Amino acid sequence: MKIAIIGGGASGALVAIQLLHQAVQPLTILLIERQNPFCLGVAYSTQDIHHLLNVPVSDMSVFPNDQLHFLRWAQNQHDLPKKVLASSITADSFLPRLVYGAYLQSTLDQAETNAKPGVQLERITDQVLGIQQTTNEATLHLQSGNSLQAQKVVLALGNPPPTNPNVDTPDFYKSDRYIRSGWSAQALKGLEPNEPILLIGSGLTSIDLIVSLANQGHCSTIHVVSRHGILPPGHRTNTPSPAFEIPSVPTLGHLVRKVREDLHGAETQGLDWRPVLDSLRPVFTKLWQSLTLKEKERFARHVRSYLLTHLRRIPSQAEGVISAMLQSGQLLVHAGRVRAYYEDSSGSIQVIIHPRGTKSEIVLHVRRIINATGPNYNYQTLKDPLVLNLLKQGVISPHPIGGLMTAPNGALLDTFKIPSNLLYTLGPSRVGDLGDLLSIKVIRHQALALALELLRHLP
Ligand SMILES: Cc1cc2nc3c(=O)[nH]c(=O)nc-3n(C[C@H](O)[C@H](O)[C@H](O)COP(=O)(O)OP(=O)(O)OC[C@H]3O[C@@H](n4cnc5c(N)ncnc54)[C@H](O)[C@@H]3O)c2cc1C
Ligand SMILES: NC(=O)c1ccc[n+]([C@@H]2O[C@H](COP(=O)([O-])OP(=O)(O)OC[C@H]3O[C@@H](n4cnc5c(N)ncnc54)[C@H](OP(=O)(O)O)[C@@H]3O)[C@@H](O)[C@H]2O)c1
Repeated sequence: MKIAIIGGGASGALVAIQLLHQAVQPLTILLIERQNPFCLGVAYSTQDIHHLLNVPVSDMSVFPNDQLHFLRWAQNQHDLPKKVLASSITADSFLPRLVYGAYLQSTLDQAETNAKPGVQLERITDQVLGIQQTTNEATLHLQSGNSLQAQKVVLALGNPPPTNPNVDTPDFYKSDRYIRSGWSAQALKGLEPNEPILLIGSGLTSIDLIVSLANQGHCSTIHVVSRHGILPPGHRTNTPSPAFEIPSVPTLGHLVRKVREDLHGAETQGLDWRPVLDSLRPVFTKLWQSLTLKEKERFARHVRSYLLTHLRRIPSQAEGVISAMLQSGQLLVHAGRVRAYYEDSSGSIQVIIHPRGTKSEIVLHVRRIINATGPNYNYQTLKDPLVLNLLKQGVISPHPIGGLMTAPNGALLDTFKIPSNLLYTLGPSRVGDLGDLLSIKVIRHQALALALELLRHLP
């Protein structure tokens, strides 16, 4: 029996680890990755040690039932350079993401070694371009010209690159002074310290870029623009708030009102706002699923940006860099939308921005622009050959909010909303069904549940 996992990022690795752990019958797991080293994907392939996990060690174990597994592993890594690992690692430490990548790789290797006889893992470096299905089997067509057969297939395709913001001058996007994705290892390559730069987006990817710029001695202005112009706040250690009380009628309006009341309550008691928002985390998926489609669309338009920016926080190291740059005036944050870019023959770019809520314009002068507007979850607009192939066959169905339509067990729904018995998914592709808090803490549960589901239904 064979299970193919397409995508060797963290989600693919997590499900492979769980399959290796749980399988008792003979099984070959095919883990297929097109470009990144196995287990790293977009999030953990950074080589910059200043790019930290945005949650503490205790939230990053691969195993939902052994929350200190990552902590124990990290404490035993005596061969990692001192500057990578702080002298004492505790459950509250924020470690470099490259360390987490090494942890995933080591845990996968360990799971492979400890698997039952007949249970094996094959790592395949190739890109899946298309899938053909018969009743009980799928054939995967690869870029190399090879093909593979499997009885179950997991799509762990991950974070699609950002989309280009709509502007009056879209031809600019062909310029080599424009970097399509802030996750690219090349994003800051060749930038001179005295060249001003614009980052579009003010989320954690922009924070990564600002931290890297600081560490490479960038001395010119760093402009950041996003529609709301809010930077992620720092983490604080606080006493948790009581569990969030779900209103009896949990409409979006009631939920927003309840959160506002709780925030007001905390403020009047002189308490920090963070624990109030944190009380939403355990019930986030449940609340998300109780909303109607219209309410989800309203959430995406009016609430998502504020809520997620305040839930995705930065460690103190990054917070220190950002506040120093804001204070010195090197970092300038603009709330608004880019209207146009004009590049002259010397490579200088004039950027026209509409500040939020005004009809006026501001003009920036920069030498490079990096898109850090986040994953493009609109599968209808993706140019990925595999996604196009599956859409054309009607065997996957884009979710109106983003990602793909899925059944509760992770099976992909076709265009008639019928769950597949061959194709499954996990991770960022489930954003529409599960909401937009898809950290490792959430994906590790999906991986365990999906592994058990697949093993239960193997022919
Ligand atoms: C920059 C970043 C930092 C993050 N940091 C944290 C954090 O600190 N803590 C936390 O809990 N969560 C974090 N997350 C959230 C979550 O952990 C990540 O989204 C995680 O990377 C999801 O892994 P993935 O495998 O689903 O996606 P990806 O990392 O995007 O990996 C998908 C992989 O699939 C491959 N692939 C796609 N299509 C094909 C194909 N057709 N054939 C073969 N291979 C294919 C891609 O090459 C890629 O390597 C972060 C996310 C990002 C984007
Ligand atoms: N561990 C880490 O430190 C780390 C690092 C990077 C990423 N991540 C994770 O990776 C995921 C993606 O993060 P991300 O920062 O890439 O994306 P993101 O969290 O989706 O943020 C996107 C940013 O772009 C802005 N934006 C969106 N469309 C825009 C437009 N058309 N014009 C201008 N601004 C626009 C958004 O703000 P507005 O809505 O206000 O416009 C927001 O600031 C998240 O889950 C994040 O937690 C984690």
